[in-house]
Amino acid sequence: MQERQRGSQSKLSQTGDTPSAEFRKQLHELADWIADFREHIEGLRVAPNDKPGAIRGQLPKRAPDEGEPFEKILADVDRIIVPGMVHWSHPMFLGYFGWTSTAPGILGEIISVPLNVNAMTWRTCPAATELETVVIDWLRQWVGLSDEFEGVIYDTASVGIMHALAVAREEAAPATRKLGLTNRDLPRLRVYTSDQAHSSAEKAAIALGLGEENVIRIPSDDQFRMDLNSLGQRIAEDRRNGLQPMAVIATVGTTSTASVDPVRDIGNLCREAKVWLHIDAAYGGGFAMVPEYEWISNGWELADSIVINPHKTLFVPLDFSVLYVRDLARLQRVFSLVPEYLRGDTVDAEKNYMDYGIQLGRRFRALKAWVIWRSLGRAGVVARLREQIRLANLLADWIGKDGRFELSAQPSMGVVCFRFIGDAAPSPRLDTAARGRTGSTDRIDRINSEIVERINASGRAYVTQTKLCGRTVIRIGLGNVLTTEEHLRKGWEIVRETASDL
Ligand SMILES: Cc1ncc(COP(=O)(O)O)c(C=O)c1O
Repeated sequence: MQERQRGSQSKLSQTGDTPSAEFRKQLHELADWIADFREHIEGLRVAPNDKPGAIRGQLPKRAPDEGEPFEKILADVDRIIVPGMVHWSHPMFLGYFGWTSTAPGILGEIISVPLNVNAMTWRTCPAATELETVVIDWLRQWVGLSDEFEGVIYDTASVGIMHALAVAREEAAPATRKLGLTNRDLPRLRVYTSDQAHSSAEKAAIALGLGEENVIRIPSDDQFRMDLNSLGQRIAEDRRNGLQPMAVIATVGTTSTASVDPVRDIGNLCREAKVWLHIDAAYGGGFAMVPEYEWISNGWELADSIVINPHKTLFVPLDFSVLYVRDLARLQRVFSLVPEYLRGDTVDAEKNYMDYGIQLGRRFRALKAWVIWRSLGRAGVVARLREQIRLANLLADWIGKDGRFELSAQPSMGVVCFRFIGDAAPSPRLDTAARGRTGSTDRIDRINSEIVERINASGRAYVTQTKLCGRTVIRIGLGNVLTTEEHLRKGWEIVRETASDL
């Protein structure tokens, strides 16, 4: 064994890489490792119960001076890394959004690794550029978005929203690209979104120099949808006070409950007020493919930009987010900048994706989407989403039948929020955080948090918590293709047992 390692290391230094026979052997080993991981994932704890620093404590503080054999590295993955992980692909992982790995998704990701191209311009990789355009258009058609929209792939929705708001900012305050925002006597620019919207709105405002306090949170109604009247009033009030409404962010699939804002009404209001409409469909967008959920795309044609995260709902491995913009040239006008050393690379190309964002170097992300979407087809995608909806509704039924729990929101797109109340009276709707809270509510909040903590520490399942109307609720997100009805039943039993133990 040692002989072989020494041999391969000396060849490694000669060629700069592992000799091909050795590499082939390692790949076979790795293929088995991946298949074994997938096959036996259910036998792992879903999450570790370690203190921070537990993993670091097992690793050397300094990088090795001499190269080490792959076998040794892989053994450490098994010994240190795998037990130190929350296994998002585990069938009992029921937290956040139903994140999933699939075999075709893994294969797609693997193929892109040896190709290792930089998809910054068409010429630096024509296939990556053209495939990106193709898969973006496939997704557009699947979710029924009009062909006035073209897109670009980024890593995450947070990055997508920042780019969208950069264009909105340029249109609200022309020449910001050239001159910046300072010393120009500009009014404060405002962004509006609901109290249920994702914090990426504020992050974008911070990055773009708009200021997080200029993101105005509009109250939501009893189904966690942005309240249209409050939005209209706030925009009018801001105008009267000399502020400039710049953009509204409507959400299709909010982070806590997957609620859907009244996009058409918001869109009409935006058109009238001449403000940019961005739709955050990071989570919900993919569900527009399911006939029962087609209604969620009502009004999308009124948007200026829309973000959809196929790494959340459409089976593409992390990371993969698409920003669509009506007339993509608007995005290009803000971000295109061609230095001399890239000029030769940008000739005659229909698209150079470096023109549509701050990133120059870009991974070949389109490939994994192409592999998974071809493998599943539209029918396969829809069938899996439907199963996730079925499971969520089933869980909601079980919750409804146990008087010690209450549903905290209508289940939506595989997301179920509920709360242990024991023998307390059902919770009335509160419209602002913590308003009207009583001591017993606080006690029940703590119990719900404790249920989540105990379940996660047990390693048997993983769930998350959120606040709705000021109250702590337990949140389950379905979507993992490995999670069956049996797993869900087991998860529900674990919740009930844990509540009984408290
Ligand atoms: C509604 C919504 N928008 C945006 C985001 C941010 O997504 P990303 O992690 O891709 O930046 C999330 C994350 O969960 C989300 O739920």
